[in-house]
Amino acid sequence: MDPVLKILVVDDEMIVRCMLEEILTGVGYEVITAEDGAAGWERLRVLDDLSLVVSDLNMPRLSGLEFILRVRESGNDVPIIILTSSNEMSVAIDAINKGADDYLLKDENIHDMLLISVRKVLEMRQISRKNRQLMLELESQNKKLEGTLEELQKTYEDLKLKKEQLIQSEKMASLGRLVAGVSHEINTPVGISVTGASALVAATSQIVADYQNKAMKRSDLEHYLRKAEESAQLILLNLSRTAELIRSFKMVAVDQTSQEKRSVRIKSYLLDIVTSLRPRLKDNRYVIEIQCDETLEISSTPGAIAQVFTNLIMNSLIHGFADREHGRITIDVLPAGDWVRFHYRDDGQGIAPENLGKIFDPFFTTRRNQGSTGLGLNIIFNLVEQNLGGTITCESLPDQGVFFVVSLPMRA
Ligand SMILES: Nc1ncnc2c1ncn2[C@@H]1O[C@H](COP(=O)(O)OP(=O)(O)OP(=O)(O)O)[C@@H](O)[C@H]1O
Ligand SMILES: [Mg+2]
Repeated sequence: MDPVLKILVVDDEMIVRCMLEEILTGVGYEVITAEDGAAGWERLRVLDDLSLVVSDLNMPRLSGLEFILRVRESGNDVPIIILTSSNEMSVAIDAINKGADDYLLKDENIHDMLLISVRKVLEMRQISRKNRQLMLELESQNKKLEGTLEELQKTYEDLKLKKEQLIQSEKMASLGRLVAGVSHEINTPVGISVTGASALVAATSQIVADYQNKAMKRSDLEHYLRKAEESAQLILLNLSRTAELIRSFKMVAVDQTSQEKRSVRIKSYLLDIVTSLRPRLKDNRYVIEIQCDETLEISSTPGAIAQVFTNLIMNSLIHGFADREHGRITIDVLPAGDWVRFHYRDDGQGIAPENLGKIFDPFFTTRRNQGSTGLGLNIIFNLVEQNLGGTITCESLPDQGVFFVVSLPMRA
């Protein structure tokens, strides 16, 4: 059962008080009465479970208007209905402005009108309470949302920071790869240059000694001159290659797309590469044969092509021909529409089936403890697929050598 609602009736006329009390108790409300505004204010202050006030306007001591003001100023929002006579309409409106909820005319309809007004005001109060509660709930939801938003913002900032860190570390990693790549590529031509320079120094010391001992024969001098010219050319070729590599790496570092492009005759360019590697061919026990139309040209970044074939040849010498007295490499160059296909073969020991899928991975090598890093084919793969816009595949069987197919666009 709902608790009985308490209503305070304030009126200085006893007969009105009694009539109102009768009406209200008749429908089940509990009624407390007060004989003027001052008494009403005293009652109201001690009743904290009051549901409604019905008050007259014209009263001694404290008028209805003053009573309303006092109640509202104290922060009490109990609903108040004002009783007026028809000649007091402007005062009634004033009362509404000061915080009353409704007004009632003291006339013959007062019985019905009072009950309607009480119900209406109570209902309104309930609705506004509910509204207030909803507002409070909304506010707390809002606060929660604001909290969530703040968290999201923070997460977003964190993510942004992490992303920047990732980009930074990715940059560092690619710088690391680049440095490893540079060392890897420069190793070969610098190594050959050192070998050539040592041979030149040794031959020169010998001829100087012979000369000082007056033991130098004409044939010695001729032999020395041939050797000196050969070595000097070898050193020049390999140092030029080193310079070219450094230049192309610098460009890779600065901008992948800005590498120097030019037209080259493929055959003579490949022969140049072979010449630069001559000291590694063990006096022709390892041979390289190139099948290519003399006039075939490609417009590309030749530095990158040189890197690809230098690495393939070095792999054949180091891995394919390891412990073998003889070896043969063939490079067949076949034009195919807008593309050039290079068929690269060796007749070395080939690649084990379980390794074939891994050879293009960075750092995969079968000679880890013998100076290999496993970067060569990865560099080749990236050069072919990214820089040159081509493709590379490999087939191989143990003891049947390797077969690489490199396809490059005629115009990169
Ligand atoms: N011609 C080949 N014959 C046999 N095995 C090969 C040949 N070319 C590559 N391989 C195999 O593929 C592996 C990866 O080659 P890659 O050039 O990437 O690295 P690497 O030569 O071992 O080391 P790096 O090139 O860094 O000095 C080699 O370790 C080798 O096992
Ligand atoms: Mg290699």
